[in-house]
Amino acid sequence: MFANISARYDLLNHLLSASMDRRWRQKVATRLRNITGDRSRILDVACGTGDLALTLFGATGARVVGADFCRPMLELARAKASRLNQPVPFIEGDALHLPFPDDSFEGVTIAFGLRNLSSFEGGLKELLRVAKPGGIVAILEFSKPTVPGFRALFAFYFHKVLPLLGGFVSGSKSAYEYLPDSVTRFPDQEQLALLMRTLGFENVDYSNLTGGVAAIHSGTKAK
Ligand SMILES: C[S@@+](CC[C@H](N)C(=O)[O-])C[C@H]1O[C@@H](n2cnc3c(N)ncnc32)[C@H](O)[C@@H]1O
Repeated sequence: MFANISARYDLLNHLLSASMDRRWRQKVATRLRNITGDRSRILDVACGTGDLALTLFGATGARVVGADFCRPMLELARAKASRLNQPVPFIEGDALHLPFPDDSFEGVTIAFGLRNLSSFEGGLKELLRVAKPGGIVAILEFSKPTVPGFRALFAFYFHKVLPLLGGFVSGSKSAYEYLPDSVTRFPDQEQLALLMRTLGFENVDYSNLTGGVAAIHSGTKAK
């Protein structure tokens, strides 16, 4: 599915979110602002076309690596990094079996990726495994709008307008029907925070973005 939509993925992200996705990724980078300098390492899991990994590199100066299991996405990410002259490697890897040893990264991120994994719990455990003790894991994901009137309006857009528009531009209607369905199956803000605490994340916190359309959750690995 991701291979099929890869060519139009960036365009649709910006179009369907009215470019808010850029601001959301920037906020993830702000969450990781204490990680600086090229002695620190950050892993962006399910990196897609590389936007978050490249944002993190620009914001922190850390050594950033992106991982994804979809080759066409990785090829686009590599081309983007080379165009921008940014030394960010993009490697093939499954988010549920990351090709890195335990305790490797000061920061680990995943944006709009966790929801797609066959096990949210398995994905969270794997993010925590590769984080260093004291390291931070940040998750950007669609969530549940919190304001009732806005929630209804957004539900109409997300379930009715977005699949039509996304399907038309990408040529894959099913991918943009899958998107709202997968968000419906995903835990809301509080449920995800609870799951993270249950799995051993410390200092779990979240902030809503754009009225809860998306949220950034973060937690640290015990020292
Ligand atoms: C919605 S895109 C998000 C891409 C990017 N993080 C962003 O913010 O635009 C989801 C990405 O997750 C990747 N993905 C899904 N399941 C995965 C898995 N098990 N392992 C690695 N990548 C996965 C897909 O290939 C796709 O690139």
